[in-house]
Amino acid sequence: MILASTNETVEAGNGFNHKDIISVSQFNTKNLDYIFHRACEMRDVVEQDGCSDLLKGKVLACLFYEPSTRTSASFIAAMDRLGGRVIPITQGVQFSSVSKGESLADTIRTLEQYADVIVLRHPEIGSAQLAADYADVPVINAGDGAGEHPTQALLDLFTIYEELGTLENLKISMVGDLRNGRTVHSLTKLLTLYKVNLRFVSPEILRMPLTIMNEVIDAGINVRETHDVADVIKNADVLYVTRVQKERFTDLSQYEEVKGHYEITPEIMSQAKEKMIIMHPLPRVGEIHDSVDSDPRAAYFRQVKNGMYIRMALLAAVLGK
Ligand code: CP
Repeated sequence: MILASTNETVEAGNGFNHKDIISVSQFNTKNLDYIFHRACEMRDVVEQDGCSDLLKGKVLACLFYEPSTRTSASFIAAMDRLGGRVIPITQGVQFSSVSKGESLADTIRTLEQYADVIVLRHPEIGSAQLAADYADVPVINAGDGAGEHPTQALLDLFTIYEELGTLENLKISMVGDLRNGRTVHSLTKLLTLYKVNLRFVSPEILRMPLTIMNEVIDAGINVRETHDVADVIKNADVLYVTRVQKERFTDLSQYEEVKGHYEITPEIMSQAKEKMIIMHPLPRVGEIHDSVDSDPRAAYFRQVKNGMYIRMALLAAVLGK
């Protein structure tokens, strides 16, 4: 990937004005280039001035039916740093009229009376599209159950590029709950746009869904599955580790069987390339030992910061700025 640097490329890539962001399938290498270019500009704004008034007068409604730290806080910070305001329904949707039984459709139709853009996290697959069907203002999917998490995938891809300087010819290994992890679903789909090798490491019951495997195979990507981190650690350029998603299990005894299956330790890291990066969408609950944090290859908190720049870029783009 080459980051957009000419006005021509930037303008050609800007098809986001007043658009919903629901799935990574809306992205191609050209409009990714545009978003990444804007994210770099946003980083410059934050580093040089802290904030701007690009979105002054604009209002974001942040509606979270599931817990979140990073996604909700980074969208709020992004809007704040661009001079806009936020209606935060993130600290417990139980305090909203959802607790009285209000439907998602009515909640969305209400919030769009106040806001210029809505960010939604919801436990059901397809909820973001449903919200977008009802809203006239742009809806951004902040995670729809075990479906997609497109803004996370964008920040993940941006982080890989920023850390390694390329998105081509990389060996990327994903580890953990590949069945329920929406971040790995979205990132895998985006990676099919590039020439990469993918390795999926999971217990048998947490394998990557067949639909996504088929997309990978159809894209001509070299892909293998294994249960063992030892099979991938020596060759990986990126080790993308995920949490086992307890909240997606209907049978908690199955969760007990697979939780704690993987833990990345300094001993495992000692077998990895010097230039490998280790990523995690966070929160982590034991998949990466704390003692790995001081390893310069631990990119997960730099990944968190990139999330704010990417979300600043997305908010500006859907609001036509
Ligand atoms: N990565 C991520 O989506 O984190 P939160 O659940 O804290 O938003």
